[in-house]
Amino acid sequence: MGGGGLRHKRSVVTSGPRARDPYAGTPRLGVRAPRTKPVATPAGPSTVVPVPARGPAPADAAARGPDAVAVDLSVDLAPKRPGKLLLRNPVLVASGTFGYGIEYGEVLDVERLGAICCKGTTLKPRAGNPPPRVTETPGGMLNSIGLQNPGVDAVIERYAPLWAGWQVPVIVNVAGESIDDYVGVVRKLDGVPGVAGIELNISCPNVGKGGLQFAVDREAAAAVTAAVRRATDLPLLVKLSPNVADIRPIARAIEDAGADAITAINTLSGIAIDRSTRKPLLGNVYGGLSGPAIRPVALRIVYEVAQVVDIPIVAIGGVTALDDVLDYLAAGAVAVQVGTAIFADPEVPLRIVDELRAYCAARGLASHLPLVGSALPARPNRPSSKGVEYRP
Ligand SMILES: Cc1cc2nc3c(=O)[nH]c(=O)nc-3n(C[C@H](O)[C@H](O)[C@H](O)COP(=O)(O)O)c2cc1C
Repeated sequence: MGGGGLRHKRSVVTSGPRARDPYAGTPRLGVRAPRTKPVATPAGPSTVVPVPARGPAPADAAARGPDAVAVDLSVDLAPKRPGKLLLRNPVLVASGTFGYGIEYGEVLDVERLGAICCKGTTLKPRAGNPPPRVTETPGGMLNSIGLQNPGVDAVIERYAPLWAGWQVPVIVNVAGESIDDYVGVVRKLDGVPGVAGIELNISCPNVGKGGLQFAVDREAAAAVTAAVRRATDLPLLVKLSPNVADIRPIARAIEDAGADAITAINTLSGIAIDRSTRKPLLGNVYGGLSGPAIRPVALRIVYEVAQVVDIPIVAIGGVTALDDVLDYLAAGAVAVQVGTAIFADPEVPLRIVDELRAYCAARGLASHLPLVGSALPARPNRPSSKGVEYRP
């Protein structure tokens, strides 16, 4: 999973208004755009639409061709704050795998992404963990970067002014070791032009609870979410850790504490052994497993969470191709993030956007939202107060 093999063939867009809009003629769905049409809810449209099976497109739609249907892939990740986090498409890039967005401007047209989740940001600069920090594993990689970042003040000074000129929303991933840390970072980000939302990385040791992660404890997860909610009106996404026995009470507590959306999942805890020394390979001993190897776990978590919360779910974990996205939509997610796959091929997210649009068009679907939740179990009564509104 090296960074080699980047193909420099896309236009360069790192700041300023776009000279060329690939979606010319369609509304620009940046975070500041007015809401011009009904948008997604976690449940998708209220009308019941039959879910097309995978495989060949229906003959009539195929005959009309992919251009016959105008597909609107937009999705609202904060329906309680209409228009505040309205994405033009449901494909985001995951925190820690896309820097601050500007690093990839030479490689692809970042403004065509649904949104960018920037690198984890803390109150003070962090040097990160000792090397080695990454190693390849079957179907993925382990990383122990240790939240290396320049600190929130530098992020606001260096990157936010650039983001403010972009149409693609930038969601700042926030980390900390205490509730005060999280609140301190978010207070600084609140109202900063260019910051479209917050994603809380709660897979961090809580010093107040003796190093226990916020993400593995329902009360700690709720407390940090509630404190951040009080500190800002920015759209608030909270990122789940897979390293728990039962994710459902934690997801429910985060929703009740005021999160606008849930992102799932962060990396799975793992270690690797250096075969020459038979000692732990990573400088930090522990690392986070990511990539296709974790996809079944992430799918299971999305599937479980979708049945107990009403807020949108953004799925993350091993997305490499359109089929992975279709799986996550079926399990109840309304959007996805692409992470590790970017290291091998930075064009994966935009390719998926194009393929999802073509997939919907070929099936006569005006949106990807009718695909959401098709794998969820039927319920006699819908919607439940704590379940995604899906087809019975
Ligand atoms: C090198 C690396 C750095 C990461 N840094 C962060 C981070 O700062 N904050 C965070 O919430 N997640 C971080 N993650 C986790 C990813 O955002 C994502 O949740 C995880 O990698 C699973 O998605 P994937 O399998 O598509 O990579 C990082 C992942 C990798 C591989």
